[in-house]
Amino acid sequence: MSSIKLTSDSTYPFSSAVMHLVELLFVSSLSVATFALDNGLMRVPPMGWLAWERYRCDIDYVFTRPHTRLSEDGWRELGYVYVNIDDCWSSMKRDDNGRLQADPKDSQEASINWHATCMTGVSSWASTGTWAHTCGGYPGTTLDKIELDAQTFADWEVDMFKFDGCYSNATEQEQGYPLMSKALNATGRPIGYSCSWPAYQGGLPPKVNYTQLGEICNLWRNYGDIQDSWDSVLKIINWFFENQDVLVSAAGPGKWNDPDMLIAGDFGLSMEQSRSQMAIWAIMAAPLFMSNDLRTINSGARSILQNKIAISINQDPRGIPGRSILKEKSGIDVYWRPLSKNASALVFFSRRNDMPYRYQTTLSKLNYTTGSYQIYDVFTEKTMTLKDSTSFVVSVNPTGVVMWYVSAPAKRNIRQFYRGGRLQGSLFDDDENRISPVFL
Ligand code: GLA
Repeated sequence: MSSIKLTSDSTYPFSSAVMHLVELLFVSSLSVATFALDNGLMRVPPMGWLAWERYRCDIDYVFTRPHTRLSEDGWRELGYVYVNIDDCWSSMKRDDNGRLQADPKDSQEASINWHATCMTGVSSWASTGTWAHTCGGYPGTTLDKIELDAQTFADWEVDMFKFDGCYSNATEQEQGYPLMSKALNATGRPIGYSCSWPAYQGGLPPKVNYTQLGEICNLWRNYGDIQDSWDSVLKIINWFFENQDVLVSAAGPGKWNDPDMLIAGDFGLSMEQSRSQMAIWAIMAAPLFMSNDLRTINSGARSILQNKIAISINQDPRGIPGRSILKEKSGIDVYWRPLSKNASALVFFSRRNDMPYRYQTTLSKLNYTTGSYQIYDVFTEKTMTLKDSTSFVVSVNPTGVVMWYVSAPAKRNIRQFYRGGRLQGSLFDDDENRISPVFL
């Protein structure tokens, strides 16, 4: 999979990240076994559009002009900047110089409408010594082609590249993923690097070395492909939280777990379930790649995917993924993510199928320290103030969520104003727990 990134002008900024990269390359050439990626990219999870789940090998998605829709319908300003193609775009044959090439039947549309040659790129891996294939059966990248292909992507001004794992074995992966990281770095163009390596090795140690992945890749698919159904989303959620002790510490600025695409706006999820996916992907600090038809997306799905607070929680600069902190017998799960400025996010998620469930708790039961908190309900946009000890009830719809942004605790007590013995209003003594303007 390769991608272009929408920028406000057409030339790619030759940023300080590149200068930094040059320095790093120099240093790493002295220390032989290091393949440090450190391309300065993706300090927060990447966001954009990705063809695969919705379109598979139906290359006609190019006519839906996702890049235009991202620019014209307000997505780009929210951070959805990558336009990712995936498999099946290329010609079945490399060119006379051994370079990958776009399928000629697509190239005209591509050259007219897409930045540079964004219809080009490659998504796959291949076993050495045999004919190389992407997962979809198109030419892939054998070990001997890694440098050439990395240079080709850089020449095409590709901004992100996913190296898939079909038709490869563990030994080839062990060599190839670090080599590709090094080769992409060596092009001098900052290219976000997505590795599917863990997904092909069961996603867990000891087979998967997350320390190494964090050094060579910007993101990685840990688990199987998402499909357009709630069952599929739930399976992914379950796997990620069952393995949170391994996964949370693997991720951080510049290195992300990727539970796969957002499917809100397609056919398989209700509005509740779409909110649940958005909320939980935000809590997990997951890349936000939508795979849908941006021309026909309904207003409900659009407003979920464009929810500024959910996006801000996802993009929190501390980059610490959230965790499951409670799994109630009632079928309510509580997820928590620490955020900048001593704030946090909470998600109350219902696994029930019957009716809205009234879940009662207190912030102190959810490990919050003593204090008074300002709460912003991400999807209803209501605010309230809660003390740690105050009992509250959230009504969570079946397969749905309630998602809160929770401010830092106020250090001093709330000040209340009375006139004629009647409460006129209240104020906090300091700014400590104001909801950060970033979130509003
Ligand atoms: C694999 C990947 C998918 C997609 C397809 C393309 O299944 O996991 O994300 O890239 O290959 O064939």
